[in-house]
Amino acid sequence: MNQATIEETVWIAIARSQDLPLREGRVVVLGDQEIAVFNLGDRVLAVSNHCPHRNGPLADGIVSGATIVCPLHAWKFNLETGQGANALSTEHCIETFPSRLSDGIVFLEAPRQSTTKNEMPAMSG
Ligand code: FES
Repeated sequence: MNQATIEETVWIAIARSQDLPLREGRVVVLGDQEIAVFNLGDRVLAVSNHCPHRNGPLADGIVSGATIVCPLHAWKFNLETGQGANALSTEHCIETFPSRLSDGIVFLEAPRQSTTKNEMPAMSG
């Protein structure tokens, strides 16, 4: 018999929205995951920082609408769904992470064990 595993998650404050430049990526490390966070103005979206092609840093890519273009070989991904968004990447997908903005603070939802500190994780990019 299979047993379902319920993973407990928490909302982690990662940055003040004013510290995320509009339409640029920043990297946040939670546990063993590098997450690229993008401020689109009316919302913040978060995806894996690793391009599935050759591991390019998606946080350094170019934001176009709600998509990101990898800086290395131009694979394009939808930041909302993670789905490949051009002919090069259409059969590929990147992981997305739930995010929200509240009172000027950006939160990411992550497994509880992702952080043990009560402070915002370091951001780079
Ligand atoms: S590493 Fe991203 S397109 Fe090649």
